[in-house]
Amino acid sequence: TRVAILYGGRSAEHDVSRLSAANVLKAIDRTRYEVVPIAISRDGRWRLQRSSEAGADGAGAQVSEDGVEVALLPGGKGRLVALTKNGEQPDPVDVVFPVLHGPFGEDGSVQGYAEVADVAYVGCGILASAAAMDKDVAKRLLREAGLAVARSVTVLKGDVGSFQEIAGALGLPFFAKPARQGSSFGVSKVHDRDGFEQAVETALRYDSKALIEEFVDGREIECSVLERADGSLTVSPPGEIIPADKHGFYTYEAKYFDAEGAVVKVPADVPADVVARTSEMAARAFRALGCEAMARVDFFLRADGSLLVNEVNTLPGFTDISMYAKALAAAGIGYSKVIDVLIEHALA
Ligand code: DAL
Ligand code: MG
Repeated sequence: TRVAILYGGRSAEHDVSRLSAANVLKAIDRTRYEVVPIAISRDGRWRLQRSSEAGADGAGAQVSEDGVEVALLPGGKGRLVALTKNGEQPDPVDVVFPVLHGPFGEDGSVQGYAEVADVAYVGCGILASAAAMDKDVAKRLLREAGLAVARSVTVLKGDVGSFQEIAGALGLPFFAKPARQGSSFGVSKVHDRDGFEQAVETALRYDSKALIEEFVDGREIECSVLERADGSLTVSPPGEIIPADKHGFYTYEAKYFDAEGAVVKVPADVPADVVARTSEMAARAFRALGCEAMARVDFFLRADGSLLVNEVNTLPGFTDISMYAKALAAAGIGYSKVIDVLIEHALA
């Protein structure tokens, strides 16, 4: 089975994707799969990488400009067209594994491209990817499924609302976030009116739509969901992200550039009833958004024991510090096995 592993990409999470891909390239069972690494540059061009070297770079999977530029042929069932002068064409792939985060990778775009190319792909389909990526749409669907979410106000470029009204409705502090972004890019904590304008401007630099969300005083708890080809779900025990106080919240820097930025604790030290509720809620959130194969469901656990769904990530990080594989390992499913299940699901 030839597996195209896509990484890099056009989103702000390009570097995170490279870190994720390095781990996927390390964990994938090369006796079962032939790996075809394809690096996507920041401007969106696809280049074949050498399979043996692709995971080697400590900064993440390599993005070599020397690689042959390729494209998936529409209707080509995985046929790759190489844009080379000598006309040599690579072998087709059986399945595409988008190890991409954020817009153009996690939001349904590349999933749509794979559909058009008529090739199997790992993970959620177009609608679930798009719905989960958009925090505004996702919250509507989660709420409709009876899941508690943080209160929020959606603002648009040209219609950002007033600080007074928003602070009146949500209290202070609150968060401003781009609607469709990951890894905390463009997220700020707002304490006052000056901070508000700055924060909204920052969020709207990443997206034309932003969410102003209440500050939830709670612990960050996350569950991994893995769906088998037969449709059965495994929900991992919850893990906890314990951010260091100095960053104020779990920022991009705290996540990836500060070894002491946060502690990822698996399983989380929570009572059995919290484990049971996160399991039920994670499965409900997964179904509510129409997810397939995988997702990581993030919660806030408040001191009174109540749980809110924070978000659903359809292409959760696979970096060294990432929760997705760690939490599944705690459920007895190792990294290589997770990849097997995902590929099996894609090909089913
Ligand atoms: N967006 C990052 C990769 C995550 O959710 O893990
Ligand atoms: Mg996320």
